[in-house]
Amino acid sequence: MTKKITAAITGVGAYLPEYILDNIELSHMVDTSDEWIMSRIGIKTRHILKGEGLGTSYLGERAVNDLLEKTNTDPMEIDMVICATVTPDMFFPSTANLICHKTGMKKAFGYDLSAACSGFLFALSTASKFIETGTYKKVIVVGTDKMSSIIDYTDRSTCPIFGDGAGAVLLEPSTEGLGVLDAILHSDGGGGQHLYMKAGGSAYPATEETVKKRWHYVYQEGQIVFKAAVSHMADTAIELMERNNLTADDIRYLVPHQANIRIINATAHRMGLPEEKCMININKFGNTTAATIPLCLWDYETRLHKGDNLILAAFGGGFTWGAVYVKWAYNGGDFTK
Ligand code: UT7
Repeated sequence: MTKKITAAITGVGAYLPEYILDNIELSHMVDTSDEWIMSRIGIKTRHILKGEGLGTSYLGERAVNDLLEKTNTDPMEIDMVICATVTPDMFFPSTANLICHKTGMKKAFGYDLSAACSGFLFALSTASKFIETGTYKKVIVVGTDKMSSIIDYTDRSTCPIFGDGAGAVLLEPSTEGLGVLDAILHSDGGGGQHLYMKAGGSAYPATEETVKKRWHYVYQEGQIVFKAAVSHMADTAIELMERNNLTADDIRYLVPHQANIRIINATAHRMGLPEEKCMININKFGNTTAATIPLCLWDYETRLHKGDNLILAAFGGGFTWGAVYVKWAYNGGDFTK
């Protein structure tokens, strides 16, 4: 009997731009303080991409090159790339296309996927299907966002939250039951009005007026989003654990989207997980939207072992949310598999 194919994550790469914006510098830009940001959000620093004409593909390209190098993979071996982002370099061509070109993945086809902070999970789940069906052997999922390009640095309620960064994973077939094993994903367009960027699309193309009204920046009703994030992330993660017969003892790590330390702690608490079973790096990188989850995997990679059960969970604009169950496929730092 042929064994079931699953999509194993066989490597993680990342890139964070050099410039670090800390809370002290922010407190000179808007009326805020390190104390407020640390206690209400839990962010100390975030990385910002500077440089004329540098967009999200610049970050994604570097994360993919890191991944290819670490996994000793020839770019020509890659079949497909899905890029999760809400800050594409431009409407078209897609950021995935640009990344494929810049990294020499000439045989791959690619496309972008837009699901805000849940983008990486939506892309990971989609990509895993192309592996499971036996259609492709090497698929890359990139989560990359240059959030600084759509943040209003005069708005103290949003500007401390976000940062720029990119993370990428390689998916390959496994017949050992490793990799992406289950997913629960949701969208609710009714939540769209609470977290969005109004202009720049086809409804309100850029005009002098849209710029004056500051419609090209992230708008967020923080408390509404906060409450929805806690309840949906925890409910979905618990549902996923239950239907896979997993208890808190079986979970090695929760890998939560990094939006607010209070959301992360509340989600972990509701899942019955102690703090040490929760990946946290929001203090260093802030909310990098589609990049937070691969950046966590990259940051904690050396602590992971083959067979570890991970629950990835996210909530974001749209609203979108979900959880993915991953059985880790290699020992941290062992790229020979
Ligand atoms: O990743 C996508 C999903 N996004 C999220 O999950 C974000 C969810 N929301 C949040 O994380 C939080 O709601 C925020 C961090 C955005 C805001 O925190 P909050 O504890 O909900 O604050 P708030 O909006 O209720 O504001 C409380 C007070 C207000 O002052 P008054 O009206 O009580 O006098 C704000 O004006 O804090 C004030 N405030 C600030 N004070 C200092 C808001 N931002 C700041 C700031 N520094 N940066």
